[in-house]
Amino acid sequence: MRLDVVTLFPDWFDWFSSQRHVANALAAGHELRTLDLREHTPLSGGQVDDTPFGGGAGMVLRVDVMDAALRAFYEGADPVDLRHQRRVLALTPGGRLLDDRLVDELAQEPDITLLCGRYEGFDERIVEHFAGDAVSIGRYVLAGGELAAMVVCDAVMRKLPGALGHRESALEESFSSALEGQPEYPQYTRPAEYRGWKVPDVLLSGHHEEIRSWRRERSRERGGISG
Ligand code: 6GU
Repeated sequence: MRLDVVTLFPDWFDWFSSQRHVANALAAGHELRTLDLREHTPLSGGQVDDTPFGGGAGMVLRVDVMDAALRAFYEGADPVDLRHQRRVLALTPGGRLLDDRLVDELAQEPDITLLCGRYEGFDERIVEHFAGDAVSIGRYVLAGGELAAMVVCDAVMRKLPGALGHRESALEESFSSALEGQPEYPQYTRPAEYRGWKVPDVLLSGHHEEIRSWRRERSRERGGISG
């Protein structure tokens, strides 16, 4: 997979890229590139945003700046056509909520571009004409799309073959089909008793079938399914 992040803060991703599962995915041949919006702005003084028409607080990322940046990164191709060649997602609080299904969908894509807005967000024409989808990581507002982009990359990259160690990837994971889309069951490790808090007996019993069924029940409980 080739993941490109268009951002005003490319160096934020240096730390992210050094995280183990990301580094593993990169070592396995996947790519994570950051594209610096400011580097290609046609405006003087590195300007990338402007005050909103109609008034209001904050600054809005300009559509001409995004156009120029995408054109420069993708060898002069009109960014309007880009979304037909690769998955282009605008990160914005009002977008489609990221969940395990969307993450699975994205993990199948060969090429993804994430557009990060800053301040009050994007000129809507960026979302409308350059992005195929708008994506949100939750119903709250972050100062910019960068952290949301890292959340998307983190969730997607850990699904790529080779990103997780064998033991981790073999786990029945929260929201996976192995758990019928439910959250993960509770996990315990040594000590078996601590300050009087005991690990459930069944987990120490060695009865694999009972353990499986106990876990499935707890997982369903957490997901709000009864019976
Ligand atoms: Cl994608 N961006 C921003 N700025 N805030 C958010 C978000 C995205 N998702 C939730 N809050």
